[in-house]
Amino acid sequence: MKEFEVVEVATQAFTDQKPGTSGLRKKVQVFQQAHYLENFVQSFLNVLQKNDPQLIVVGGDGRYLNLEAIQKIIAIAVANDVPQLLIARDGILSTPAASHWIRKYQADAGIILSASHNPAGEQGDFGIKFNGANGAPAPESLTSEVFEESKSLSSYKIAKLDNLDLTSDKDFVLNNTRVAIRDGVEDYVLYMADLFNFTQLDQGFKSNKISLLFDAMNAVTGPYAHRLFVDALGAPASALLNAEAKVDFGGGHPDPNLVHAADLVAAMNADDAPVVGAASDGDGDRNLILGKQQFVSPSDSLAVLLEHHRLLPQFEEGILGVARSMPTSTAVDRVAASLGIDCYETPTGWKFFGNLLDDKRIQLCGEESFGTGSDHVREKDGLWAVLAWLTIVNALNKPVAQIMLEHWQRFGRSYYCRYDFEGIENAAADQLMSELTAGVTTFKDQSFGNYIIQSADVFEYEDPVDGSVSKNQGIRIFFTDGSRVVYRLSGTGTQGATLRVYLEQYQSPEGDLLGDAREVTTTLAQAAVEIAKVSTLTGRTEPDVIT
Ligand code: G6P
Ligand code: ZN
Repeated sequence: MKEFEVVEVATQAFTDQKPGTSGLRKKVQVFQQAHYLENFVQSFLNVLQKNDPQLIVVGGDGRYLNLEAIQKIIAIAVANDVPQLLIARDGILSTPAASHWIRKYQADAGIILSASHNPAGEQGDFGIKFNGANGAPAPESLTSEVFEESKSLSSYKIAKLDNLDLTSDKDFVLNNTRVAIRDGVEDYVLYMADLFNFTQLDQGFKSNKISLLFDAMNAVTGPYAHRLFVDALGAPASALLNAEAKVDFGGGHPDPNLVHAADLVAAMNADDAPVVGAASDGDGDRNLILGKQQFVSPSDSLAVLLEHHRLLPQFEEGILGVARSMPTSTAVDRVAASLGIDCYETPTGWKFFGNLLDDKRIQLCGEESFGTGSDHVREKDGLWAVLAWLTIVNALNKPVAQIMLEHWQRFGRSYYCRYDFEGIENAAADQLMSELTAGVTTFKDQSFGNYIIQSADVFEYEDPVDGSVSKNQGIRIFFTDGSRVVYRLSGTGTQGATLRVYLEQYQSPEGDLLGDAREVTTTLAQAAVEIAKVSTLTGRTEPDVIT
């Protein structure tokens, strides 16, 4: 066995390695600084080594720097005597597939290289995030510990290795570390075959009860979608759009929403549109669901999945409970109430679902930010959501638009829209939020246009499982007509601050259920920007993105 030299490299600590909502996300150039990635990985290993980790899973979404980062992580892990590494072949591992691998092989942690839906390439973003032994994103306690460690790090250890060949399944023994390179797509596809009835879906495709157009946005889900939909379920290759995973994601912005998935939206508005249209983001955890000429908002998607949960093999016997993030619409709450099951309201961020899933309080959860998932992994899962929708459409044998209408006729409709004001100066954004925070005690009974404020608060969450409290999770304003506005600052941006304004207007089943969500929420939006003094404090009169 060949021994590789290990060197201890003296380094300067960086002060900006504080992970956000989903890991450390920065411009590629920041990660290209000497020692930057090495420092952060060593800080993580220093924290992790207190628990004597045996196996770490490593992979990423295939973006620029992915392979380079993986090679460095291997060399650092070897130098730190991590006993085993499971590395994704070609570095390709979607976030939900990473979560599955961690659980399946009982790994102690995962390192996922991704900046999710942020653009990639030399000028784009890069990111690194950690998952724990349950497959969920690392809790804040751990990421803060890593941050603290990073601020005083003075050296890291690295083995002098040549780059490993990651292009085929292989095993290596490097000093005290066993490294296995494995296909990160195969296990995931097999798992989906366990969770869904592939025979029925295959028949659905053959009989044209279902047809699909899936946009992989030139990101990580391309190879997964090919093996799932084409190879396993018999969909034609033409069911896939932008299925080649590229390091710069084809120059696009792999965020599956109406703005960034414009090609898919156009195809789904055409007369010959397939039954289901869908897309996923850079690292495969988000999803967009469309029907022919029908957008399914993520909040509605969660509600419909709950309504028809018994059609999903996973929930044939029923479901224990459900959760949504606070800014997600209340559509799912009404379905949960009709089923008599618990519905939890958590802060934004998938990690808050982890304890509820582990404690078997919930089995299905979702967020307005195009995230949907279940207890099968501890991340949101874009392709799982697409398979769930295909299963429901196949079983009901109805167009998506019909399924939505019937849902609203039963439960009413939460018209929903989100306004994003991007790249605001941090100081201005902070002032806006602190003025709103100060305002919550005085807002009651004030009117803005036709809207009268009934109550307002700063959302705070106490985790019912471990009792931890998360404060300042956004401002909620409730109006007398049942509508609601939520404000929060994005935790995932890389430049300036992004103010998100979430609008929800409830329409009971007797009213007009087929309006346009943007139009219906326009007057509520006017009230929302007035309440927060958006134009005075930020100089913005229009949002940059409306979804
Ligand atoms: C990531 C997390 C999601 C969360 C989203 C919020 O995608 O995985 O769970 O909903 O960030 O993003 P924001 O930019 O609104 O903080
Ligand atoms: Zn993502």
